[in-house]
Amino acid sequence: MNRLTVLMLATGMALLLVVRTSAQEPPNGDPIAGARLYDAWYNEIDRMPPNGNHPLWETQTANNRTGVSTWRCVSCHGWDYKGAAGNYGPDSSEYTGFPGVIDMVGRSESEVRGWLDGTMNSSHDFSQFFSASEVKNLVTFLRTRLLDTDLLIDPVSGRAFGAVGRGHELYQDQCLDCHGEDGSAVNFGSAKNPVFLGDMAQQDAWRLLHKTRFGQPNSDMPSADQLGSSLQDLSDILAYAQSLPALNPATGDGGDSGGLDYSQQGDTTSIVIGAILIAAVVMGGLILNSIQRGTIQED
Ligand code: HEC
Ligand code: HEC
Repeated sequence: MNRLTVLMLATGMALLLVVRTSAQEPPNGDPIAGARLYDAWYNEIDRMPPNGNHPLWETQTANNRTGVSTWRCVSCHGWDYKGAAGNYGPDSSEYTGFPGVIDMVGRSESEVRGWLDGTMNSSHDFSQFFSASEVKNLVTFLRTRLLDTDLLIDPVSGRAFGAVGRGHELYQDQCLDCHGEDGSAVNFGSAKNPVFLGDMAQQDAWRLLHKTRFGQPNSDMPSADQLGSSLQDLSDILAYAQSLPALNPATGDGGDSGGLDYSQQGDTTSIVIGAILIAAVVMGGLILNSIQRGTIQED
């Protein structure tokens, strides 16, 4: 083959790729909005679940939490997306025995949707609460934005692997205006039982990671994922947040005092899904991101 043929072939293949990609159904759900639904959908869309516990919650007795929070996806599936196989394992006060959602990465849209409309389990039917575009957002989040948190946070100690110094710079750029120099400007708890950024970072780095990536439901807090933060950025911010002072006296004693509402659990089963999956998720996210920038966001 001469050079021209090679060039023509290469151009042809590149064109084919472009055509193929644009012919696929556009992944036009908003995964960031979906992640906030996963966190607390009733706050994000201002729609309340019925009184009482979620029907599946009644199938377990380990966790005696009651009421509206039993309807949150995260209460059953965890901030690390691994359910009982991760941070909400048998040693955790949040233990339910329920599975994680991490297996949804890369699954087909209809497969994941089947878990939300009652097809897979009639007790797991959320269709009365969500519009079609909200379901799409949630499904897009589950398929494209879940990551193995073991890459950023030590699953046993709960410490982030990142660099504190670089995290400080990122914090000053992205968080300081609202949360203050030492994290004491926003209280996530109550006046009597305050929880500040330093407390949460030490008690529950997984929750901090999800909130940092996607923002707080129904608030002005920006999403670091939307701002284009890398895994390294996130890990560094987490490490810096863990260096902030804990301002609640109950922080640091293992969370057993019942003082903080955020329990610290380490899980010893190491489930490393592997770099390939992560690379796929990151690359998938990047590709989706670039596709989404060109499309209109629903809602
Ligand atoms: C009260 C607890 C509870 C809540 C709340 C809950 N789930 Fe689940 N979820 C479960 C249980 C239990 C299963 C497994 C059911 C089964 O195997 O039939 C499950 C299964 C799933 C699965 C399939 C996991 C797999 O690997 O097969 C997905 C996806 C899922 N849930 C997503 C969600 C989302 C999204 C929300 C929030 C809108 C949510 N769940 C809220 C308990 C809950
Ligand atoms: C524009 C202001 C703003 C910025 C910037 C901001 N936040 Fe927030 N953040 C808030 C508000 C408001 C809340 C909600 C407090 C509440 O609901 O009580 C919040 C909540 C949180 C929470 C959730 C606490 C909980 O209840 O679980 C975490 C964690 C957090 N922020 C971390 C960060 C980090 C890390 C950054 C920087 C990467 C950041 N925030 C940037 C305003 C901001």
